[in-house]
Amino acid sequence: MLSISAEDFLCWQKKQLSKGGDQQSFAVLLDCIGGVTTSDLKLISINPEGILHLKRNLEFLESLWEEHLFKSCPIQYLCGITFWRDLKLKVTNKVLIPRPETELIVDIVFNIFRKKSEKLFFAELGTGSGAISIALALAYPLSEGVATDIDQDALEIATKNYINSSEQSNLKFYCGNWWSPLESFKGKLDLAISNPPYIPRNTYEKLPKEVKNFEPKVALLGGEDGLKHIKEIIQKAPIFLKKRGWLILENHFDQSEKVKQLLLKNKFTSIEIVKDLSGIGRFTIGRYK
Ligand SMILES: C[S@@+](CC[C@H](N)C(=O)[O-])C[C@H]1O[C@@H](n2cnc3c(N)ncnc32)[C@H](O)[C@@H]1O
Repeated sequence: MLSISAEDFLCWQKKQLSKGGDQQSFAVLLDCIGGVTTSDLKLISINPEGILHLKRNLEFLESLWEEHLFKSCPIQYLCGITFWRDLKLKVTNKVLIPRPETELIVDIVFNIFRKKSEKLFFAELGTGSGAISIALALAYPLSEGVATDIDQDALEIATKNYINSSEQSNLKFYCGNWWSPLESFKGKLDLAISNPPYIPRNTYEKLPKEVKNFEPKVALLGGEDGLKHIKEIIQKAPIFLKKRGWLILENHFDQSEKVKQLLLKNKFTSIEIVKDLSGIGRFTIGRYK
């Protein structure tokens, strides 16, 4: 541990923030790499005479901050960590950084399956860092979950995140294309969830460089119209869901109506478009017959 006067630290912090970036990203850097929590920061703002203890020196923290600012590298990849709901998850550039709006998927499930003692059998397709599946496996300890991804590196990270977040053993990981690793679970799922790659090609080409240059293309690009993977998931879902089983999909801001039509065409009922906190129809959900 390195010690520094609060006064020197506050002066250094002001200088770093004057270079650009936002306070929240800076706080993530300080917490994850510097070992300085938001409560430490509050304490020194009340008592600037105090002493602060750091896990890494200021030069190292400054070099990461500048890499974030000047190369547009997401702070979460530089720190190797992101916070999502109440989880602290390891992330590398092999997985998408789970987004705040996706947190709502878990609340949608809570609204459908209200008893935490439910013995659900759920699947998540395209688990990435494992965020959604881990949150569900923890919230429904009697449930069994299966999480898939096409990328073995992503699954290794998801598995580590599960082990770090839980002492349970109700979540298993499988590698392969969408439903294909789940052949033995046909007709058995109460619930399937996916936040698949749904960005249309033209939009993908114009994404901000902190996304396009760093996050995995396989996690973002949804073919020409963005609906390639969503179509495949919906078409095969009836084979894997139980009668009255639920499918919950995240989609791009303007895809909900099209996703709804795809669900109707594939004999889903109780279809609903759920808005995110910005009022965007971000999720489309339905029940198989
Ligand atoms: C938008 S990311 C979602 C990651 C995570 N579920 C989340 O919400 O943060 C989509 C995920 O789908 C995976 N994926 C892409 N194509 C796939 C396919 N054909 N079969 C299975 N998974 C796929 C990607 O590797 C990526 O992890």
